[in-house]
Amino acid sequence: MTTPRQLKLGALLHGVGGSTSMWRHPDAKPDASVNFELYKEWVHKAEEGKLDLIFIADGLFINEKSIPHFLNRFEPLTILSALAAVSSRIGLVGTLSTSYSEPFTVARQFGSLDVISGGRAGWNVVTSPLEGSALNYSKQEHPDHGKRYRIAAEYLEVARGLWDSWEDDAFVRNKETGVFFDPGKMHTLDHKGEFFSVKGPLNIARSKQGQPVIFQAGSSEVGKDYASSVADAIFTGHDSLESAQAFYKDVKTRVASFGRNPEEVLIFPGIAPILGATPEEAERKYQEVAGLVTIENALNYLGRFFEHHDFSQYPLDEPFPDVGDLGRNSFQSGTDKIKKDAKEQGLTLRQVALQSATPRSSFIGTPEQVADQLQAWFEGGAADGFMLAAAVPDGLEDFVDQVVPILQERGLFRTEYESDTLRGNLGLPVPENRYSKASEPAGQHL
Ligand SMILES: Cc1cc2nc3c(=O)[nH]c(=O)nc-3n(C[C@H](O)[C@H](O)[C@H](O)COP(=O)(O)O)c2cc1C
Repeated sequence: MTTPRQLKLGALLHGVGGSTSMWRHPDAKPDASVNFELYKEWVHKAEEGKLDLIFIADGLFINEKSIPHFLNRFEPLTILSALAAVSSRIGLVGTLSTSYSEPFTVARQFGSLDVISGGRAGWNVVTSPLEGSALNYSKQEHPDHGKRYRIAAEYLEVARGLWDSWEDDAFVRNKETGVFFDPGKMHTLDHKGEFFSVKGPLNIARSKQGQPVIFQAGSSEVGKDYASSVADAIFTGHDSLESAQAFYKDVKTRVASFGRNPEEVLIFPGIAPILGATPEEAERKYQEVAGLVTIENALNYLGRFFEHHDFSQYPLDEPFPDVGDLGRNSFQSGTDKIKKDAKEQGLTLRQVALQSATPRSSFIGTPEQVADQLQAWFEGGAADGFMLAAAVPDGLEDFVDQVVPILQERGLFRTEYESDTLRGNLGLPVPENRYSKASEPAGQHL
């Protein structure tokens, strides 16, 4: 009997939340973004719910207008390494920028996390949208959008090359003969490219999942091509089933055009469910969190996508202002969409700011209603899984306790982990070491 296709679930652990004001909610812990005990509770809850992974987002530039979570939060690899020690099955995915780091260091860090966790690491490869990031990294200027993706392409090629430095049986560690490793199974990359020059080998071997799982979240044309050519999983955001279906179809077609198997690239729309015993109770909870957001908060939130542009200078109840190309070099896909929607739907600045800061998703309702929506997206060609963000302080707990059992009952979600690696649970193949593959007799790896 074959198992029906199973949906995958990730939990975005986001401290006091991705909104401007959730920290003020009566049930919120206002220090959540730097509360390690809370992160431990969350990872345990996510693992109790058999979720595939936890996900840590990140950014490299803040100012006084940034949302509370961005002001004071854990660095992704540091928190994930600590959480690796208090979990055993769940995947640990962290965001790290290819525009402001070196591939040798980062390949080493993720390689270490992968070994520490027994094959549960994932890397969300981002190119850093905010121009201000350059000011924190001794750089004169932020590379432009296209160049950031060219850097990212070479960067990942280098990281993957470094991760294959050691074949799986390279470390002999024979005390009697004194042979620690087999030199024939150690490989030097010798990479010299447009942006990077890296000799290798890396000073850590592969984990049992071969290489960390690669996530990507670009949604512009160049971003989708990059994600389709290199990622194992894609994190995306959509406000309707139709838009998610169009993205899914577009990306899976691109994946195939790169000669890759579309089933081996998983698409995860981000959602922020709000649950209630009745639809009215769920709606009330949404209104409660939306009501905490002032128009000033909303303008600041919107401004960040446009290089922290000061939107308070425009009249609130007139059409969304023409800001020209602002935003195209940072959150290109996101700001293009905001401008397009505002124009097509004739929205005012107030409406755009509030929609952006207090989005009303279709995942608000009873646990059954939310499970119905998840199923409709999963079976309707819009998603392979979902990244859950908490729209209310107990969002993760509510989802695990109330929605996961329904999904399990419907045969849509696992009742036990299939594997102890992230690749194993996501159903992704272990990438064979390129050197072992090259030395196999012809036909052996068909
Ligand atoms: C759902 C989603 C999540 C993202 N998470 C992050 C993040 O945690 N850190 C970051 O620097 N950028 C993040 N980004 C931004 C992208 O990595 C990318 O830089 C930005 O979307 C601009 O590229 P694009 O125009 O190709 O989409 C995210 C984007 C999306 C759509």
